[in-house]
Amino acid sequence: MKPDFPVFLHGGDYNPDQWLDRPDILEADVCMMKKAHVNAVSLGIFSWSRLEPEEGVYDFGWLDGVMKRLTDAGISIALATPSGARPAWLAQKYPEVLRCGPDFQRMHFGERHNHCLTSPVYREKVRAIDAALADRYAKHPGVILWHIGNEFGGECRCPLCAEAFRGWLRNKYGTLADLNRRWWTDFWSHRYTAWEQIEPPSPAGDQCNPSMRVDWRRFVTSQVRSFIEMERDAVKAFNPALPVTANLMERFWDYDYFELAQAIDVVSWDCYPAWHGADDLQRAAEFAMNHDLMRSLKHKPFLMIESTPSLVNWKDVNKLKRPGMHLLSSMQAVAHGSQSVMMFQWRKGRGGSEAFHGAVVSHDGRDDTRVFRDVEQVGAALERLTPVLGEERKAEVCLLFDWENRWALDFAQMGRRGAMQYFDTCVRYYRALWERGIAVDLRDMSEATDLSGYRLVVAPMLFMFRNGMDERLRRYVEAGGTLLVTYLSGIVDADDLAFLGDAPHGLTDVLGLRAEELDTLYPGETNSLKLEGGVSVPVSRYCELPEDVSARVVGTYGEDFYAGHPCLTVNSFGQGKAWYLAAEPDTEQAMRTVLARVTEELGLTAALPETLPQGVVATGRGRAVFVQNYTAETQTLWLTDAWRDLITGDVRQGTAVLPPYGVWALMKADGEQA
Ligand code: GAL
Ligand code: ZN
Repeated sequence: MKPDFPVFLHGGDYNPDQWLDRPDILEADVCMMKKAHVNAVSLGIFSWSRLEPEEGVYDFGWLDGVMKRLTDAGISIALATPSGARPAWLAQKYPEVLRCGPDFQRMHFGERHNHCLTSPVYREKVRAIDAALADRYAKHPGVILWHIGNEFGGECRCPLCAEAFRGWLRNKYGTLADLNRRWWTDFWSHRYTAWEQIEPPSPAGDQCNPSMRVDWRRFVTSQVRSFIEMERDAVKAFNPALPVTANLMERFWDYDYFELAQAIDVVSWDCYPAWHGADDLQRAAEFAMNHDLMRSLKHKPFLMIESTPSLVNWKDVNKLKRPGMHLLSSMQAVAHGSQSVMMFQWRKGRGGSEAFHGAVVSHDGRDDTRVFRDVEQVGAALERLTPVLGEERKAEVCLLFDWENRWALDFAQMGRRGAMQYFDTCVRYYRALWERGIAVDLRDMSEATDLSGYRLVVAPMLFMFRNGMDERLRRYVEAGGTLLVTYLSGIVDADDLAFLGDAPHGLTDVLGLRAEELDTLYPGETNSLKLEGGVSVPVSRYCELPEDVSARVVGTYGEDFYAGHPCLTVNSFGQGKAWYLAAEPDTEQAMRTVLARVTEELGLTAALPETLPQGVVATGRGRAVFVQNYTAETQTLWLTDAWRDLITGDVRQGTAVLPPYGVWALMKADGEQA
């Protein structure tokens, strides 16, 4: 796999615009960056008011100087378009660039990431500054990437957006009759008789129609996508070869990231786990899955474009990274396919809301702090990891993870209403595989998804089937694949209307059963799944009741009126096997037990063949294996083969000792020349 850059990028958000009156600091920055092995910075993300102090009046002089100094020092630049935050003059002169909130009221000037992305004025002003920047810098020798805006998020309900929503709906449905039918508007007498009657869903108006809400999310995604494409085209006009990215976020569900990723060349994301809480292993599992999700959006290496070298300032409790954790969490990103370890932020500002957010350089201006040394260590490690850059993380397992499914589950008034926990549930399945060193891709239900190469497809809570998902899953199993579906699957179609007939829609013969009723358990309540062979594990949250079961029953419910009723089944279909899990395994151990049963005969490839101590995880990226200790204890491992640790250069074989929060980047000792 050809990486986008010749070396791992190491650096972060650099805000020299806050220090223009301190040339000494700007000078010191570059020297300290060299010391910290920084080779790339994200520049100009929030510089609009310095770049265009008055409408149409540009000032690039200061940026010329900063970019020259960086480039002379061999530090590459991810140059930002400044659309993340707008200057005050823009809001004052053109109030339409300000967003309207859920109550349809217009906001005042302030903060960031809060523009109306429909506003033609906003689009034009952004296009103009982007074009001016690109005209000047798109061929600058230091620039390696465009960083479009910052963390696109939120939505606007202004009249322009409402009108655009109606336009989007007209285009999709053609007639109101079709919209009324597919939105099921005879319910509560909501039939529309004119397009103008339709408003964006909101707590001040209508937010009870799930079909409408799913469409609103699709519309918002398409607005943001077209905005990013507008910016992309504006800068690419001056140098089509320069790649663009837009930094994405964790646990962000408002836009479909699989779709947004189509608008950019490289996926990048901002990674801020809260380490050292109740369960670091769980945190690590969640962020491993986040990294794999980002890798899967375009099915290629991504950038971790933000992370903190020490702490953040926006959580309720902002804890320091313990010694070792900065290297460990940075290597986790690399293990999962990152081409970078970038941080927010290079230097703490003196004011503003992020003056106390972690940074490589603090207010003391020192380069001999613990944090600075941690950053130096990561930078030096990345230089030794260049052989890993072209290595591709390959997976035999696919986890189906779909934004639209998430929306449909969230908007459904059923089960644990408002707490469907789709993402967290997916993390639980992911974790049980990740702990065993098994690589997982995440794929959604879009047409581009091809399941044929996977040995196992795990589809938790696949409530919505779209783009013929039932047919595609059927063909996948028929051709020899192993599929795991769970409770709450195949219930609604792409319009978020319930399928008529037996569930899971279109798969009853593949699974050898039909799902008839769904029981929801109270928090803390459990049932049990009694597996063949006598093992029993607790289940909770949801218990579905399958009927007409012709599949082989591998486990049954232990309690309640459905005791003895099938709970885990497997059906041979064509060349493959279709598993069905009717309830949610309650504990991590329960999940491990169930997934061990499902994967028993598959012999899936693990990053390391050895059994690792609890809390130690091995992650494979091509020929490299990253062994990570997510515990505060020293761990002793056995390595059968000889491996070279690229970080230290040591050969590790036999009994090997991994320090607290320690990490190794291993490649086969004899494979280095390969
Ligand atoms: C990110 C954002 C940065 C900075 C950082 C602080 O979400 O993109 O600009 O605010 O958080 O952790
Ligand atoms: Zn708007």
